[in-house]
Amino acid sequence: MISHKPKILCVDDEYASLLLFDALLAPKGYECILAKSGSEALDIIKAQKIDAVILDVMMPEIDGFEICRTIKNDERLRRIPVIMVTALRAKEERLKSIQAGADDFISKPVDKAEVLSRINAALKMKAQDERLNLAYSNMIDMISFGEGIIKTFKPVEFNLTRKIDSIAEHLIRHKMNSPEKPLIIIAGIYNKQWEWHKYEYIARGLEKKAIDFDIAEFIDLPVGEETRIRFLNREELMKYEFTPFIKRVEEALSLRIFNMVSCLSSDICFFAMNYGISVTGYDAKVLESFITQSLFLRSLSDKIKVTEDDFFHIVSALARVSESIDGVAGNHILRVGEYSAAVAGALGMPASFVNEIRIQARLHDVGKIQISPFILKKPHALTAEEFESIKKHTIYGAKIIESNSRLDMAKEIALTHHERWDGSGYPNSLRGEDIPLSGRIISIADQYDAIRNQRPHKPAFDHETTGRIITQGDGRTMPSHFDPQVLETFKNIHKRFEEIYESHKD
Ligand SMILES: [Fe+2]
Ligand SMILES: [Fe+2]
Repeated sequence: MISHKPKILCVDDEYASLLLFDALLAPKGYECILAKSGSEALDIIKAQKIDAVILDVMMPEIDGFEICRTIKNDERLRRIPVIMVTALRAKEERLKSIQAGADDFISKPVDKAEVLSRINAALKMKAQDERLNLAYSNMIDMISFGEGIIKTFKPVEFNLTRKIDSIAEHLIRHKMNSPEKPLIIIAGIYNKQWEWHKYEYIARGLEKKAIDFDIAEFIDLPVGEETRIRFLNREELMKYEFTPFIKRVEEALSLRIFNMVSCLSSDICFFAMNYGISVTGYDAKVLESFITQSLFLRSLSDKIKVTEDDFFHIVSALARVSESIDGVAGNHILRVGEYSAAVAGALGMPASFVNEIRIQARLHDVGKIQISPFILKKPHALTAEEFESIKKHTIYGAKIIESNSRLDMAKEIALTHHERWDGSGYPNSLRGEDIPLSGRIISIADQYDAIRNQRPHKPAFDHETTGRIITQGDGRTMPSHFDPQVLETFKNIHKRFEEIYESHKD
């Protein structure tokens, strides 16, 4: 705990009066700083941390009113209480003092009990004012931290442990002049069993250490959605049912706990310890708001993950239907997704694109549902008319998927995966970058897998032959069909294609 003797600046041009204040206040634990003039007082107050000012009204040069006004007009000083010393019946002096911003008065001749009680009240008022000010800046800080979290919240990637780490990092005291923050945080996360960590700021930065005993055994945890908060200063710490916990933690972590704020829930527990000032219900509420926010984000993330799984399941089910009609065996659609994700990753596309193409590539041939299975499974070469009919699976696919923001990529893939870079593809003979990147990537992935597999009209080829056909051409498949950058990527990661093929073989 930070504790210092309150510093009282006494300002009076009469040295005897200054000595009188010193004799009165020093034995009561105050540190008196004496100033004989207004200018000396202003120098001191700007150079030192003063807790209250006792100010004589009548002084030569700069008088008490002016000093008071200077203090109260300065943003950095205005919270220091100023007590003016006035003659008991000097009504006008008192009015002028109020106008100058004085907080209180002491009557002349000075009465010992009055001085002490006025100083006491002024310091209390200052402490409350500081606390309120701290609470306000904490609140602003908390709001901006919360906004930051919400702005960067990625439901599928949400990780509770990382979130708790960031809260600890945010809450813990980094600088010695932040007594409103705790020096140590202990956090527990329940994930089939409790995992406990201690956070502390050391010279290298935030240190996180695992605690090797289960703190939950020492505390009574709330059940269900309930959260329970407590704030305990040293006196209360010893009285509470937390005593065995406190002793055990002090012993295990070789520390002494002066105060503690806790927020317990059935999934997350937070203990913030050793604030530089005594703790209040406000500190507990701050902690609770972080815990509640974390629990809410986790539950939101869990729900979104379930929806994502459902989405993935439906996409896969639809893809399997198209596959069964096509007569293309087994894992073709899965492999096409994996090759495409590998190419997208190697092209430096963001993780979100890589993940989307992996899933949405599965629907590339969904339009085949509308093509006659007789044509799709025909063991001989197709007639020109049959081939025209097959080409339409691209348009049918886009129609089946329809407009849905979540399936935009699947739709463009279905429509463009047979377009070719040189414009010789179908259905729209698109050229170059007019073909969406997803379509250009699937084109090579789909082609590689088609060449590797036996189809009604062709035998299966090994990896080397397939690579040669794609990069050098065989008359049917030509390098000019592919985006040169995608083709180059294929050359660089062709081994990955082989691995994917081998590990997802039919
Ligand atoms: Fe296709
Ligand atoms: Fe395909």
